Amino acid sequence: MEKKVDSTSDFFDKDKVINDEQKIILVTGGAGFIGSNFIRYLVQNYPNFKVINFDKLTYAGNLNNLITIEDNKNYVFFKGDVVDPKDVKTAFEQFSPDYVVHFAAESHVDKSLINPDIFLQTNVLGTQILLNYSREHKVQNFVQISTDEVYGSISNDLNVNEDARLEPNNPYSASKASADLLLRVAYQTYGQRINIIRACNNFGPYQFPEKLVPVIIHNALNKLDIPVYGDGKNIREWIHVDDHCRAIDVIMQTGKSGETYNVGTGNKWRNIDLVEHILNKLDVNSNLISYVLDRQGHDIRYSVDSSKIRNELGWKPQIDFEEGLNQIIAWYSNHMDWVEEITTGKYMSYYNDIYKPRLMETQ
Ligand code: NAD
Ligand code: TYD
Repeated sequence: MEKKVDSTSDFFDKDKVINDEQKIILVTGGAGFIGSNFIRYLVQNYPNFKVINFDKLTYAGNLNNLITIEDNKNYVFFKGDVVDPKDVKTAFEQFSPDYVVHFAAESHVDKSLINPDIFLQTNVLGTQILLNYSREHKVQNFVQISTDEVYGSISNDLNVNEDARLEPNNPYSASKASADLLLRVAYQTYGQRINIIRACNNFGPYQFPEKLVPVIIHNALNKLDIPVYGDGKNIREWIHVDDHCRAIDVIMQTGKSGETYNVGTGNKWRNIDLVEHILNKLDVNSNLISYVLDRQGHDIRYSVDSSKIRNELGWKPQIDFEEGLNQIIAWYSNHMDWVEEITTGKYMSYYNDIYKPRLMETQ
């Protein structure tokens, strides 16, 4: 039988290694875009923290994203599915996490319009299963990585705060809003310690090239058409993934239990303006822009009021947007092989190549 835990150290001899200074963090979806950036951030900033990456490795999960820290003794990968209670139970029994930071999700709006069911399974049922075991194991804080998309489309003169109604318009955002409501139940009814984080659109390294920013950069570098949905006037608010990771850290450790925090920058762009801006930076002709059929139910504008996290927890974004964008453009330009492996599907053999031999050794 395949062993699922890839432990190469005596890290899990808890009596031996754990003392009061240490925290065990179970990160779900840690092989995806934001989760992998968050794990790197934790491992680099908190040598006393032990980080478990619980991930199913769907098409969006890529262990290559963690290659720079995969040998760190404080990091371990656990291949598991949040929708499978057996996997979740095993992970909780084995690691007894202090904190759970729940990123694992189906995350792409366009895919949700075609196949909503998997979004409900992973994003809603998966969250409930994790909440069940978090309650049983008395987790100190369950941090739900939600999204500003749960508020739906926001009219031009407004920034929504955390009390705004949830008015999602696609299966992805509806599934995320549903999960947020389950968090509410966990807090109100079962007394679990939880936080919900609703960030705006992230950009950064290791983002799967199905989302706007990597699509623009990848296609521009390869002189491919850049699809712009509808009239391109939809507005998104953008945050560098490192600023989001800092916000998650602050909330995980100092957030008031039961509270929701918006995370935003105020940095808003019409899609078409962002496309043209990036093409300018790359010195690529804008005739690559190709207007395509609009997304169904395409939200016009997202815009959050993030004064709560700023005033109450002292967080603010640190990365200048232009500098962040330059850094990301350089990153994708220097990691064409990473994008290539994803677009060809080659990255999917990474788990088998790297982990199967190690697993065989421990059996
Ligand atoms: P992603 O698609 O890049 O990564 C998702 C990860 O979850 C992958 O590693 C995948 O393998 C894993 N996963 C999927 N189903 C799973 C399952 N059943 N069991 C275990 N693991 C599973 O997503 P992302 O862009 O990094 O987003 C992460 C989280 O942040 C999501 O919850 C998303 O809703 C939220 N979010 C994203 C953004 C954004 O701009 N990308 C903004 C706000 C919030
Ligand atoms: P996306 O990155 O999918 O994030 P989300 O839909 O979760 O905000 O899309 C960002 C915006 O860019 C959204 O308005 C849809 C638009 N878009 C395009 O115009 N072309 C594309 O190829 C993609 C992927 C998105």
